[in-house]
Amino acid sequence: MASIKVRKLKSIPAEITVPGDKSISHRSVMFAGLAKGTTVIDGFLPSEDCLCTVAAMQALGADVKPLETLDGIGMVKLEVTGYGKQLKEPSTFIDCGNSGTTMRLLSGILAGQPFKTELRGDASLSKRPMKRIADPLGEMGAQIEGQGEKICAPIHITGTTLQPITYTLPVASAQVKSAVLLAGMLAPGKTTVIEPVITRNHTESLMTHFGVKWLRNGDAISVYGNQEPQPKDITVPGDISSAAFWMVAAAATPGAQITIRNVGLNPTRTGVIDVLLRMGAQVGHSDEKNEGEPHGNIVVKGGELNGTHIGGAEISNVIDELPILAVAAALARGTTRISDAKELRVKETDRIAAVARNLRAMGVTVLEFEDGMEIQGGAQLQGATIETFHDHRIAMAFAIAGLYAEGTTIIEGSECIATSYPGFEKALDRFLGGDDSEPAIPVLSSVPRSIGEQNAAAAAAESAESP
Ligand code: S3P
Repeated sequence: MASIKVRKLKSIPAEITVPGDKSISHRSVMFAGLAKGTTVIDGFLPSEDCLCTVAAMQALGADVKPLETLDGIGMVKLEVTGYGKQLKEPSTFIDCGNSGTTMRLLSGILAGQPFKTELRGDASLSKRPMKRIADPLGEMGAQIEGQGEKICAPIHITGTTLQPITYTLPVASAQVKSAVLLAGMLAPGKTTVIEPVITRNHTESLMTHFGVKWLRNGDAISVYGNQEPQPKDITVPGDISSAAFWMVAAAATPGAQITIRNVGLNPTRTGVIDVLLRMGAQVGHSDEKNEGEPHGNIVVKGGELNGTHIGGAEISNVIDELPILAVAAALARGTTRISDAKELRVKETDRIAAVARNLRAMGVTVLEFEDGMEIQGGAQLQGATIETFHDHRIAMAFAIAGLYAEGTTIIEGSECIATSYPGFEKALDRFLGGDDSEPAIPVLSSVPRSIGEQNAAAAAAESAESP
């Protein structure tokens, strides 16, 4: 098992870039693989999750050529020659690794194929509910069999000529929405998904990019059937979910400023900016471009953060950022309440339990609820051994917490970070003073300490001033 040792923050780099967006990378390969012809994907995220999607589409007939590989990161540019919407029957099962997006979106595509497929996952993915996609895809006529009541992996999909449906999402899930839309694209007629709460809309934006006709009417998204995506080169922007780790590190450091270059700014994903603004950070964007997926630079200036409430319709927009926002809450003054976030319990691990366990290990008072938690901010974090539960976002969120802790924080099982962020450890090194080849703002005594400590320092300064 790999581990990372984190010590106190030394400096905040002036600029940083993050690898490609995970959601857009998965979808780009899927649409390109379903198109007849060649698509170049630039800015691709070569994380373990997305590479599972690449291998799956190869097994289903797509041809993939790496065009550019970055040291320590992997294949960031590739050429996909698709097989067309009727895919090749794979010779064996498809391994989705840790990736819920691969398994759920691919299920939508496989539901409309004239063959049977088996999808497997690792121990964590095999515990996650696939019933949420088996239900609508079953309504469309496909047969999806899995383990137990939650229809867990391994799942067996018997594809067929599907029937179009109108489906109201019972949970706010972009993965379920996307599975139904992808199946609908292959079915005859018009398939509609109604989403009572807005979720990330990358499938919709990529349908437009790849020439698939669809329309939105209020909260109903419809796709016309019997369509084949058309090949078209695409550039993937940086992942705001990866940027969020550095945004919080800068936001919690008075005097710091960081620019994160070329990050996706799709409004269904920028909730983390709104939450940090509410907490008192200064966050802006510049050089925005609106072609395809909006993207630009994010600039964060650090200051003193305050607690906030994160809940309601905002949750689906920040669902992947809640672990790092919980760390921001621990570094803030006052109490932060996260509610309506029950979905966190069925992510790569139970993220409510994992965040509560690790914050407590670092000395933070946390109340756990079925749908969220309440975090008492302002205590001095103590270095601790962090249990990641093989969840990449838990590992990275607590690596950032470690930058603010007294003593050493050990992230046990850090190999899971490769799920979404190859190169994270190298980037983290820049905050630990390990790589001084790039401009950075040194953090001296201005690293935020506990509010108590700050108050004591202020009181000491005051008494020193008084005669
Ligand atoms: C994703 C949707 C979200 C998110 C996941 C990626 C996607 O999951 O948590 O990391 O790419 O569609 P849900 O759809 O389960 O909310």
